[in-house]
Order: sequence, then C-alpha cells, then structure tokens
Amino acid sequence: MEDFKFEHVSVLLDEICDFLDPKETDIIVDGTLGLGGHTKELLKRTEGQARAYGFDLDSRNLQIARNRLKGFDGRVSYINDSFSSFDHYYKVMKMDGIDKVVLDLGLSSPHLDIAEHGFSFKRRGPLDMRYSRKQKITAATLINKLPSDQLAMILKSFGELSNAKLIARKIVEERAVSPFKYTDEFATRIEVCFHPKDRVKGLTCVFQAIRIAVNDELRTLSKGLESLYNHLSSNGRIAVISYHSLEDRIVKNFFRKLEKPLETDPEKSLKSIYADPLVEMITKKPVKPGDKEVEVNPRARSAKLRVIRKI
Ligand SMILES: C[S@@+](CC[C@H](N)C(=O)[O-])C[C@H]1O[C@@H](n2cnc3c(N)ncnc32)[C@H](O)[C@@H]1O
Repeated sequence: MEDFKFEHVSVLLDEICDFLDPKETDIIVDGTLGLGGHTKELLKRTEGQARAYGFDLDSRNLQIARNRLKGFDGRVSYINDSFSSFDHYYKVMKMDGIDKVVLDLGLSSPHLDIAEHGFSFKRRGPLDMRYSRKQKITAATLINKLPSDQLAMILKSFGELSNAKLIARKIVEERAVSPFKYTDEFATRIEVCFHPKDRVKGLTCVFQAIRIAVNDELRTLSKGLESLYNHLSSNGRIAVISYHSLEDRIVKNFFRKLEKPLETDPEKSLKSIYADPLVEMITKKPVKPGDKEVEVNPRARSAKLRVIRKI
C-alpha cells in the first residue's frame, strides 16, 4: 500500500454544527461517519451526554473513526452497515426517537487516495469502487458483464453523459479483446470517446456513474432519508451534504414534499391542495463552501448543504 495519511477534511464543519446546534441530551445519527470528523465536532460542542450512532459501509473507515473518537468512549455506537438500514438498527438498538442527523454523502478522501479502493483513474488500482467489502458486485463486474444498453443507461442516468451510447459500445468492443482489470487501464482504453480537453471531466463522469451503480447510491439515499425522517423527534433536524446534482435533486425533492405535503383530506383539498408543512426549511437555498474552504480543501467545491427541522 502507498505511503499516505488517513486524512479527510470534513466539509462545511462549522455550518453543520451551527445548523444542527447539538444539545446535551441529543441522540445524533451520523449516517456516513467516514473518519468521524462531523461527529467529533458535534459531540465536542455538547459537553454533555449526547450520544451518537455512526454508520459506515466501509469497515476500514469505521475503525479509523473509532480511534479518533476514543475520547467519547461509551457515547458512540459504530455500525458497519448502510444508513438505509436505519429502521432495523432503530429497533434492535432500542432507540427512542432521534434528534440530529447528518449525512455527508459519497466517498471519503482515503477512498480516492488509496489506489486499492479502485475509485480513481489517476492511480492504478483494481476496478473495485465498493464502499463495503461484504458486497460481491464490483466495478469490474458491471464493466465486464453488463450488456451495452444497460451500461449506456448507467452512464446517461448517473454520469449525465451525452455520449453514453458511444462509450458503452467502446467498453463492449474493448472488453471483447481483453477484460478490464485496472482503473487507469480502463480510463486509457475508453478516453478516445472524449475530446482531449474534456478527457478529465468525461472520465470523472464515467467513474461517478459506475460508482453510483456499484453502490446503488441513489436508491440508498431515498430509502435512508425516509427512514431517518420517520424516526426524527419533533424539532429534530436533518442536514445533508451532497456532491452532485443527482443526489441534491433527491434531497431537495424529499425536503420540499415535507415542506409542502399534498392534502389528503378531500374536504380540505377543496381549499388548498397543500396540507400544513411537516418541516421548516432551515436553508432556503443550499449552502456552499466559501472560497477559503475550497482553497484549503478543493474536494469541497461541489458540496451543497440542505437542512430541515421537523415541526
Ligand atoms: C464524505 S465521507 C464522510 C466523512 C465524514 N463526514 C467526516 O467528516 O469524516 C462519506 C462516508 O460515507 C460512507 N458511505 C457511503 N455510502 C454509505 C451508506 N449508504 N451508508 C453508510 N455509509 C456510507 C463512505 O464509506 C464514507 O466513509
């Protein structure tokens, strides 16, 4: 393994803490614990008995977070699973309402920095892209096995690539010669699909699309939001940081439906098609990192934060 530090600079850290405003007795759920940066700061701010439940699909990140959060022993539970399975853990761990939720979606810096994770075309690694090692399907499975039309659908829907069909055909043509094994090799063999000046952007979109498909990220997000919201106490808050438009759209639409729920009472619906709001939109527009933060941490540049409070 390359020599590197397990580091991840938490994005919009102050904003998350200010908006979630943790209280002494809060039950906090960090659905994407990563290296524990957001949870650590949230717990630090409470100084009391606030408890946290940290989910991460990646057991390696969970272990790093556990070491980093040693000072909060007994106040954090570590769960090596998806936040979309929250319902299950809510019952099993006998939780009784939750007060603050943070989701900081996608991958952590070690995922990109460690070649073995196979998320980056800038360094040679196996075509993996799984957050969870328990999962069988890897990027190599999809790239080497899926029919052309399904590959094109993934590239179009999750990478928003206008030349998705062309790239899919190129993948199928190339893998007939020899299956793809490595991230950098895959990138080199399909890069002819892009104009040289669009190469990096194009490949980034291809890798994003495959990563979303491998980890079923969009369905997971919808399911997880629903479940976390259902267990949120009145006055509880949910903060979500997303990194691309597909994720942000899901978060925005989910929050909007709660802010303006459709009236189901036929009598009342004669007066208004909307029922009373179920949440207050704390962030009227998505909050983005300032220039200073992006300068220090360029990976924060596409972040968008949305926060709601349950009424
Ligand atoms: C951006 S990082 C979180 C960083 C963290 N907020 C911090 O400050 O250190 C996202 C983390 O979420 C994890 N992850 C991605 N999808 C997940 C899911 N559905 N359930 C649980 N963890 C997930 C990834 O493995 C990664 O460690």
